[in-house]
Amino acid sequence: MKTIRDLDISGKRILIRVDFNVPMNEQGEITDDLRIRTVLPTIQYALEQKAKVILASHMGRPKGQRVEKYSLAPVASYLSSLLDKPVQLAQDCVGSEAESAVASMNNGDIVLLENLRFHAEEQANDPTFAQQLAALTDVYINDAFAVSHRAHASVTGIPANCAEKAAGLLLDKEMSYFHRSVDEPQRPLVAIVGGAKVSGKLEALTNMLNKVDCLLIGGAMANTFLKSQGSSVGASKVEDDLLDNARQLLVDAKEKGVKVYLPVDVIAAERFVPDAVCKQVTVQDIPDNWMALDIGPASVICFSEVLADAKTIIWNGPMGAFEMDAYARGTMALAHTVASAHALSITGGGDSNAAVRLSGEAENISYMSTGGGAFLMLMEGKELPGVKALEE
Ligand code: 3PG
Repeated sequence: MKTIRDLDISGKRILIRVDFNVPMNEQGEITDDLRIRTVLPTIQYALEQKAKVILASHMGRPKGQRVEKYSLAPVASYLSSLLDKPVQLAQDCVGSEAESAVASMNNGDIVLLENLRFHAEEQANDPTFAQQLAALTDVYINDAFAVSHRAHASVTGIPANCAEKAAGLLLDKEMSYFHRSVDEPQRPLVAIVGGAKVSGKLEALTNMLNKVDCLLIGGAMANTFLKSQGSSVGASKVEDDLLDNARQLLVDAKEKGVKVYLPVDVIAAERFVPDAVCKQVTVQDIPDNWMALDIGPASVICFSEVLADAKTIIWNGPMGAFEMDAYARGTMALAHTVASAHALSITGGGDSNAAVRLSGEAENISYMSTGGGAFLMLMEGKELPGVKALEE
């Protein structure tokens, strides 16, 4: 993939599409800066090359309206403190505000355009809007891996209007880590897939069967698989309409020689609250009206044995409702196991990354992807529209 390093950007205007869609608390403070810190190498490189750096991002889902809580103003000041230099926030991403902010830039300046999604045209991939954005720049760089699964104006529309375009260093890193782990892995390759629903991950699971040696399934989605195999899962969350798909997936896995591991025990609770009465039971013994909210210790041992032999691990989705302490043990234990495995380990998705961080193991994971939906789309074996647009 062509990257920013392959282009001559010195003295030019470069528009870098970043994903500064970061979580913020009620006070408007950034609570997780991964998506900002990870694009610093690209920004710093562009500054060293004396380019005029225009940053464009979305934040939240303001539905085409100007909504103050989704302003990028806190990001501009946060970035400014990280870089120790001014970051000017243009009050709009197109029109006279944006044009005049860009026109007055000197080499080595940074302008952050206000939230792209304040315009409905962004998500609609409106061609005129894309042309307006493209007119602000000489060079287009996509460094927004986490939104590259969206065919939006700033992701696919600008590059269609820009002759000079390439990937930023983060996008390049994300793609090469994914490629190394899934397309050319050191084997055994083990995927851990968890989270609430089978429905959102069915395509990813199906595609992973063509790639992995072992598949560990946990989280609420495991209930659907367990039920498809005849376990009565009490009042656990189950997608009954997907029981056939789950059953078929296990048949396909067998045919392909992929070993699938489901939980053998769970932490079951009477209610979905932090202080509910709960107990460890085998998956055959979940009482009626109780629900499985975490994998149990026997499952942790079983999963950990599989992970101990892995040379490559890809992880998407937690093993239980880890946001409540009572149901966090399974996910935390797996985070420790993955972190200490002698394997290349990559995690993707907001929940998995939050769980890894909570476990204190973030430093010990080979790579934490900044993508959620984009990571899943790669797991589905599909090409990201934002990456394709750079090739066209
Ligand atoms: C994300 O957080 O996954 C990306 O920023 C994309 O956001 P979206 O799901 O609102 O398009």
